[in-house]
Amino acid sequence: MEREEAALAAETQQEQDAETAGEPGKGKNEDEVKEHEPPADNRVYKTREYWEARFAREEAYEWLADYGVVAHLLEPVLAAGKKEGNDAIRVLVVGCGNSGFSDSLAQGGSEDDGDVQVARQVTSIDFSETVILSMRARYPDLTWETMDMRSLSGFADASFDFVVDKAAMDALVTDEGDPWNPNEETRKDTAAMMDAVTRVLVPGGMEDGTP
Ligand SMILES: C[S@@+](CC[C@H](N)C(=O)[O-])C[C@H]1O[C@@H](n2cnc3c(N)ncnc32)[C@H](O)[C@@H]1O
Repeated sequence: MEREEAALAAETQQEQDAETAGEPGKGKNEDEVKEHEPPADNRVYKTREYWEARFAREEAYEWLADYGVVAHLLEPVLAAGKKEGNDAIRVLVVGCGNSGFSDSLAQGGSEDDGDVQVARQVTSIDFSETVILSMRARYPDLTWETMDMRSLSGFADASFDFVVDKAAMDALVTDEGDPWNPNEETRKDTAAMMDAVTRVLVPGGMEDGTP
């Protein structure tokens, strides 16, 4: 009887662990929880030093949502954005971090995306060299470049059809002061990013962002 109860307890624990996997603070060991703890002052999110240190110890983290959650919205837009004469739609992911989003996007997302599929070439950038080196090693078939999204200086004008910003501009607005009247530096940073994105997009291209 005791053995049966122990087996049941172990099974229940396994089920709970499976249910809570991915939720910060649940079903994970202490080191993993610590790794994803928010910083005491979220203004550090705009500094390269914070991200370099974080990516040196964190292998993968997905902010907000993974590709499967938004694929049904993005896939039809990607299909509509493909220009005649191009084999594939050219997508730029800015502030890519260490998320698997670019890879899922490159593969066309999950099985339930619907029936719209279009070939895509995915390029991802981040200003952290640490994360770009690690993503290049993890996904060698994709293109990864160390670059600041406020200039996108390594890309020629009109080189992409679609730009994805998932939780990237958010990092520029963590020290904005009054959100209804952001300070000068935040206005400058966000305007520079939007100018850069506009420059690298083809006329009629599209940026999809989260903030
Ligand atoms: C909140 S994380 C989002 C990461 C990823 N897009 C995701 O959704 O999981 C913000 C990312 O933006 C990057 N970042 C912040 N400022 C940047 C800048 N000026 N240029 C390029 N990348 C930047 C950080 O290194 C970090 O990877």
